[in-house]
Amino acid sequence: MPETVVFTDPAGEGPPIELERFGLGPALADSELRLRKIPEPDPYYVDLGMGYRFAQIEAARRSGAEGLVPLHVAVRGHMGTGKDHDIEQFAAAMGLPYFRIPLTGEVRDVTLIGSTRLHGDGKGGTESRWADGDITRALRGPALLNLSELNAAGAETLFALHGLLDRYAALDLPNGETVPLRDDVRIFGTMNPTDIRDYAGTQTLNKAFADRWVIWEKRFPVESQVKAMLVRRYPGLGEEYLEAIARLTTEINASFEAMDSGVRVETPLSLRSVLDRVPTGLVIYADDPDPLRRAWDEFVLPQVDPYDRDHYETVWNAVVRRGPSQPPFRTR
Ligand SMILES: Nc1ncnc2c1ncn2[C@@H]1O[C@H](COP(=O)(O)OP(=O)(O)O)[C@@H](O)[C@H]1O
Ligand SMILES: [Mg+2]
Repeated sequence: MPETVVFTDPAGEGPPIELERFGLGPALADSELRLRKIPEPDPYYVDLGMGYRFAQIEAARRSGAEGLVPLHVAVRGHMGTGKDHDIEQFAAAMGLPYFRIPLTGEVRDVTLIGSTRLHGDGKGGTESRWADGDITRALRGPALLNLSELNAAGAETLFALHGLLDRYAALDLPNGETVPLRDDVRIFGTMNPTDIRDYAGTQTLNKAFADRWVIWEKRFPVESQVKAMLVRRYPGLGEEYLEAIARLTTEINASFEAMDSGVRVETPLSLRSVLDRVPTGLVIYADDPDPLRRAWDEFVLPQVDPYDRDHYETVWNAVVRRGPSQPPFRTR
């Protein structure tokens, strides 16, 4: 019996989607490497909707509906909204080896696609041999590729990927080989929005390249979603703290998206701040008169540019002013 996985719609609208997981054929030369690359499911992962949408695309592809071609999903959102985590957790659920390949401006074509190298032939001479780059290697077997920071990719990289992503569905290597897009390979991407703020080294996505993706927005989480993620991970965290952290998060991020440059903050409150750093601060400063404020000072503000701290302070004052006086965690 093949293993299956069920995706449920967190919005409660669509039906559950049951999908067969990928199996790794033992015949592959690098099957051991690939097995190790299947991500562990994160027990604290809360699907805010993206996982279910990925499953919808997968189900459509497997439905055999006439005329459909494989689609590639690019998730667009600000830093720390959980884009990479959604994609990684989809790989975990589907049992696919996960290859996250950043396309930032500095990586060259040879790193991604590959190059011809000289090797000793063992007889005192040299011979040239093709060596796969990161993308090519991943494409050789079952894989989920996450091409992260699509909009930081250089022109030569984009050009190399065009054929892979459209109907041609193959990568032409400079050595003349053609690597087809296998049926058990999925390609995803992530990018930052360039419209509101600039991220170093990014640009608006080249139109021809953008047209090869389905682009889905990953919004900042709303209060109930922040709470759900915190509760899942820190079941003992006090209600007052949940409330305050969730509101700070949504208000800071709303201020980040504000049009008025005089009041808006320039750094969003990422899920890493909310789920990793603040709770660590609360543990450390649990006995402080105001644990949340101490955690904020020591674990949030250092991430924020100095010129931006005033705006953070304005939001803090509007939302909490004084943090809860109870200890942050219920003890048993
Ligand atoms: N849906 C989620 N449920 C639980 N934790 C999450 C979720 N999304 C993100 N996280 C946490 O937030 C961190 C940052 O997410 P990440 O995917 O790296 O953001 P991005 O790629 O958008 O910058 C992850 O390491 C993970 O711990
Ligand atoms: Mg990321």
